[in-house]
Amino acid sequence: MGTITEGKAGIKIRTAKVVSKAMPVFYNPVMELNRTISVLLLNSIDKKNMQIALPLSGSGIRGIRLVKELKKGKIKNISFNDYDNKAVKSIKENLKLNKIKMAKDKVIVSNKDANLFLLGSCGFDYIDIDPFGTPNPFLDSAVKRISRNGIIAVTATDTSALCGASPKACMRKYWAKPLRNAVMHEIGLRILIRKCQLIGAQFDKALKPIYSYSKDHYMRIFFLCEKGKEKVDEILKQHDVFNCAGPIWIGKLWDNKLAERLYKAYGKGRNPDKGVLRFLSIIKDESKINKVGFYNIPSIVKGSSLASIPRQEGIISVIRKKGYKVSETHFAMNSIRSNIPEKVLAEIIRKKN
Ligand SMILES: C[S@@+](CC[C@H](N)C(=O)[O-])C[C@H]1O[C@@H](n2cnc3c(N)ncnc32)[C@H](O)[C@@H]1O
Repeated sequence: MGTITEGKAGIKIRTAKVVSKAMPVFYNPVMELNRTISVLLLNSIDKKNMQIALPLSGSGIRGIRLVKELKKGKIKNISFNDYDNKAVKSIKENLKLNKIKMAKDKVIVSNKDANLFLLGSCGFDYIDIDPFGTPNPFLDSAVKRISRNGIIAVTATDTSALCGASPKACMRKYWAKPLRNAVMHEIGLRILIRKCQLIGAQFDKALKPIYSYSKDHYMRIFFLCEKGKEKVDEILKQHDVFNCAGPIWIGKLWDNKLAERLYKAYGKGRNPDKGVLRFLSIIKDESKINKVGFYNIPSIVKGSSLASIPRQEGIISVIRKKGYKVSETHFAMNSIRSNIPEKVLAEIIRKKN
């Protein structure tokens, strides 16, 4: 057993050399940023007195961080659930360790299948679906039990399906064709968004992405859930094919004002990590450019049979001078998001060779 500190939470967990499903109670340090962004997002939206559900809680680290790090008045109650007895024992121990008292009306711990837990509830304002692999098995019940204007957060770690390593699996699980090239992560994220939206549509619920990203081995989306047939129709109008892939969500991946608030909130915190700050800053910048896909500079260089890859900053500066919008993208290295036509960009790159 070891004690791990993450944010303002300290938890006791049996550590393992390899992070896997086989761990007695699952804890993945790589997902710290995933949890940090949940905290930042809930602190950055205009919502108070929330009923929060963590149907797949694992060690309880995410919920404990929410209790300790969300601003005063944000939480009405928080429910930790996991179907694994060992996880539930660990949640209870970790709550105690963090001096958080279980109380029937405030901090609730249950030991059920996630779908039974959600369907047996009266509903929540925030539901965090954080499974092993695909979120598919939990989407129906999350959509059914999210409140009007509530937030559903979805993680997917089956990136081999979404990013084109197993296209058949993507067709089966996500009803769309993936890509296997420089933009595969963005296309995978947009495929996942559309799949969640189709589940929402069945129940007249419009799932609008307000913050989303792809990182390491996973994808993550926060949806604002609005009720109404017209709102759903608006969402469905923004499903389309992209090159040979899709159908995908072609609408916005971010609410740009929220992306700005998240970035600022993290920067104001104690000892912000430079890498995380840069990641949030890139997302803040690209959230202002409403365009599907981005340009991968090495691919353009290769396609034009040029000798060298010019420096990205130099290219960005010329694009800006020409009056186009431009930013880096968090999805890939050596890549830019811009509304510049490809031919004009190729010409800039050619001149820099
Ligand atoms: C990826 S882990 C959750 C990690 C956790 N949310 C965190 O931030 O550290 C997935 C958890 O879901 C639980 N789980 C898997 N399938 C479940 C189901 N059908 N119902 C309830 N819990 C389930 C597993 O026992 C595991 O603890």
